Amino acid sequence: MKILMVCLGNICRSPMAQGILENKAAEKGIDITVDSAGTSDYHIDQEPDHRAIAKAKEYGIDISHYRGRQIDVADFKTFDRILVMDASNYENTLLVAESDDDKSKVEMILNLSNPNSNMSVPDPYFGGEEGFENVYRLLDSACDVLIEQIENGES
Ligand code: 4NP
Repeated sequence: MKILMVCLGNICRSPMAQGILENKAAEKGIDITVDSAGTSDYHIDQEPDHRAIAKAKEYGIDISHYRGRQIDVADFKTFDRILVMDASNYENTLLVAESDDDKSKVEMILNLSNPNSNMSVPDPYFGGEEGFENVYRLLDSACDVLIEQIENGES
């Protein structure tokens, strides 16, 4: 199972999602590959936003070694599931897809914890510290469901 987390910049939400899922999988001894990417090229090769690094660290997760990259058409072949943070990421990710099979891999991440809601993970970049706590909690709940699905062989 290979999972790609996608947001706009690949420095706030998707690296946090990657770290949370990797950490849960490691705790449970589940062997999965997790990566993250942005739909934009704004932060290629950059480390995550310092507020995202600090929030993950608060929960015992080190994401400081991640580096920003942009989603690529090859990602649709590499990954089994592509989890996006918001409606804009969803549209922009579908634009990179080449086939219906590619498109079928793309899901809104909060539909895991809130089925069929199409809720977005709010972009915390221009807000305050509390935005990162909110993002962390939303992603933590969604990743719990994903781990459950993987454990139950539903994924
Ligand atoms: P992310 O947050 O998509 O969660 O990584 C953002 C990071 C950077 C920008 C926007 C959102 N930006 O406009 O540079």
